Amino acid sequence: MPPVLVIDFGSQVTQLIVRRVRESGVYCEVVPFNKAEAALASGPPPRAVILSGGPASVCDEGSPRAPAGVFTLGVPVLGICYGQQTMVTQLGGRVEASHDQREFGRAEIEVVSQSPLFNGVWPAGVKDQVWMSHGDRVVSLPEGTHAIAISGHAPFAATADEARKFYGLQFHPEVMHTPRGAELLRNFVQNVAGIAPDWNMKAFRAEAIRRIREQVGTGRVICGLSGGVDSSVAAVLIHEAIGDQLTCIFVDTGLMRAGEADEVVSLFRGHYNIPLIHADAVDLFLSRLEGVDDPERKRKIIGATFIDVFDAEAKKIGDAQFLAQGTLYPDVIESVSALGGPSVTIKSHHNVGGLPERMHMKLVEPLRDLFKDEVRALGRELGLPPAFVGRHPFPGPGLAIRIPGAITREKLDILRKADVVYLDEIRKAGLYDVIWQAFAVLLPVKTVGVMGDGRTYDYVCALRAVTSSDGMTADSYPFEHAFLARTATRIVNEVRGINRVVYDVTSKPPGTIEWE
Ligand code: XMP
Repeated sequence: MPPVLVIDFGSQVTQLIVRRVRESGVYCEVVPFNKAEAALASGPPPRAVILSGGPASVCDEGSPRAPAGVFTLGVPVLGICYGQQTMVTQLGGRVEASHDQREFGRAEIEVVSQSPLFNGVWPAGVKDQVWMSHGDRVVSLPEGTHAIAISGHAPFAATADEARKFYGLQFHPEVMHTPRGAELLRNFVQNVAGIAPDWNMKAFRAEAIRRIREQVGTGRVICGLSGGVDSSVAAVLIHEAIGDQLTCIFVDTGLMRAGEADEVVSLFRGHYNIPLIHADAVDLFLSRLEGVDDPERKRKIIGATFIDVFDAEAKKIGDAQFLAQGTLYPDVIESVSALGGPSVTIKSHHNVGGLPERMHMKLVEPLRDLFKDEVRALGRELGLPPAFVGRHPFPGPGLAIRIPGAITREKLDILRKADVVYLDEIRKAGLYDVIWQAFAVLLPVKTVGVMGDGRTYDYVCALRAVTSSDGMTADSYPFEHAFLARTATRIVNEVRGINRVVYDVTSKPPGTIEWE
C-alpha cells in the first residue's frame, strides 16, 4: 500500500492530486471508489487518505461513498469537493443541492481559524484565491468538525476535525488556479500525516532496478524502441538492471521524421551499447498502406504490421520470456465514470498495443507508476541526453496521420522537409520547450501559386503547435505573425512541392492535436 491513497470519485483532475503529493516528495497512488474497500483490505493501511472530487451529487440516491473503514483506520483523511461532501454526509452532517448558489471558477476564501493544514500558508484572518467547482454545499457539520475557512457561498469552504485529523476542502487545492493549493497538500501529507518526503527519482531508480532483477531473474527480455521518451527510458533502466539479457527491437516503419531512425540506432547501439535489432520494414508498411485513405484503417494497418514485424524479429531472438513496455501511470489508472456509460473511441491509439496478447509473454513495465514528467526526470537521472528527454511526443503511427488521405513516398519526403524547417524556426525562436507539440501536416490539396514568373500547382502545408499539460486538452500556440510569415517563406522556398502554408488555430476540443 502506498503511504498516501487517493480514492477517486471520477473528477477530471484526480491525477493532479497524485502529482502534487508526489511533487512534495511523498509517494501516492489512486484507486477508484468502487475498488477502494478491496484495496484497503489487501495490505497494511496507508498513512493518509485523500477523497477526490467527482461529478455526482451526494444528494442523489446511489451516489458513491467512501468505504466506511476509511474513517476508522485512525489515519488523517482529506476530502476535496465531492470528497468533502461525502465525508460530511457519512459522518453525520448534511449537504444540500443548491441550484441558485453554485460556485464555479475563482473564488475568495477567508481563513477563520488556525489549523495545521494551513501552517505556514494561511494565518487566521487572511483572504486568498481558490478554485471552486460545486453545485451542492455543506449545510451542517458532523460533531467535532468546525469551519476553518469560509467563502461567499460556502460557509464551510474548509472544515476540520482536528482531533481525528479529518479535513475537508470545498475548493480544489490540486489545480493551478488555487495558487497555494500545492502547499496545503504538502502540509496534509507531511505535517498532518507526518510522512517523510523521501520519494525522488534517485530512490525510484534504485527500487525499480531491484524489482526488475527480482522479476526477470536470469530470463531474457525484449523491448520495442519507438524513438520516443518512454520506451527509451524503459530500455535504459532495464539495461542498467540486467545488462545484455535485454535486446531492443526498433521497427523502422518509414513513417519517422528526418534522421530519427539513425538517431535511435546510434544512441542505443553506440552510446549505451544496448543490443539492438534494426528491422527495416519500410517497404512492407508502405505497400500495405498504398491507396488507403481512411484514418482508422491507416491506424489499424500500421498497428497490425508493427506487430507482425516485431513478432517475426522476436522469434529470431528465440527464448525471450519477457516483453518490456513503456506503459505510464495515466494508462494504468482506471478511469472511473461515476455517472456510468462508456466513452467513445475517437482514435485507436497504437503503440505496441496488442503485442502482449499475441506474444504470450510476461510484461515488464518499469514506468507504470510514473507520470510523463516523472519519466523525463528519470531519463535525466539515467543520463539520457536532455534534448532527447525533452522531445515533443510523437504518435505511434508517425507521419501517416499527418498526411490526411492516402500516403506516398513522395508526400512523406515533402512533409519531412517541411517539418525540419518548421522545427528549426521554433528552436531558433527559443520556443521548443514552451510548446507541447509542434509539427507540419501535408494536406491532400493542391493550390495555384506564382513563383518567379511561373505558375505553381502544389500542396498546402498546415502548421500545428499546441500547449497542453497532458495531451487531453490543448490550445493552439499564439505565434507572432512575423514568426509564421518567416516560417512560411522558408518552407515555400526550401521545400519543393509546397506552395502555400496555413496555421491551425483550433483548440482541443473541438479539434484533436493530430489531424487524423
Ligand atoms: P490527439 O490527436 O488524440 O492526440 O489529440 C493526443 C496526443 O496523443 C498523441 N497520439 C498518439 N500517440 N499513438 C501514440 O503513441 C497514437 O496512435 C497516437 N495518436 C495520437 C498525439 O501526438 C498527441 O500527443
